[in-house]
Amino acid sequence: MQILIFNDPLSLANACADRITDLIARKPDAVLGLATGASPVGTYAELIRRYEAGKVSFRSVRTFNLDEYCDLPKADPNSYNSFMWDKLFGHVDIPAENVHIPDGNAPDLAAQCEAYDQMIRDAGGIDLQLLGIGRNGHIGFNEPADAFTKGTHIAALTESTIEANSKYFTENPMPKSAITMGVGSIFAAKSIILIATGKKKAEAIRNTVCGDISPSRCPASILQLHPDVTLLLDPEAAALLKTS
Ligand code: PGA
Repeated sequence: MQILIFNDPLSLANACADRITDLIARKPDAVLGLATGASPVGTYAELIRRYEAGKVSFRSVRTFNLDEYCDLPKADPNSYNSFMWDKLFGHVDIPAENVHIPDGNAPDLAAQCEAYDQMIRDAGGIDLQLLGIGRNGHIGFNEPADAFTKGTHIAALTESTIEANSKYFTENPMPKSAITMGVGSIFAAKSIILIATGKKKAEAIRNTVCGDISPSRCPASILQLHPDVTLLLDPEAAALLKTS
């Protein structure tokens, strides 16, 4: 696991954008696994800047998002579909058909989960997966549980996640479940970058880096076994690493 600590958010976003644009330069039809939440927003803004400056094109890039709420209209401002088009896709040249976001309103959710995993396999697997992390160590919506999840599935959200995200739901109540790639789907990515900032993430980062590999304590701890993981942190998120 490579751990890089940045004193300012712009340098962190730049480092992440460098990894993505280097990959696209080598492989123009790269398959990116993308995340929502606050953590990747600076990276997406930097990718838009680079696109506008003519330094990168997303014309052939294919993307798979980690997750989406269930029972929330796709066009709702809080859907992850809206988030991605607002923060990245709507500002670059990626064709809409290259964008994949799980459909949390599919009439047959089990079939949607299977189809999503199949689409990832058909694309040749994820080259680079971008992740945030929850305060409880979740990745995607893979909350602490008795076992690591495998493929895309429906997840009930925990109180901790509902509390962290409900600030965004000012009009409608926050959904209580989501469709999410599994820990197994994430682990299958060839390369993984996890971004975490702020002291609220410090414990999850300590558990990810040096805790027991435990689905109940910290789902992200499985990343210790992955051959190509980079953590991009600020000093606050990294604060508990020195003493452990
Ligand atoms: P955040 O969320 O990037 O908004 O902190 C990360 C997560 O909960 O996975």
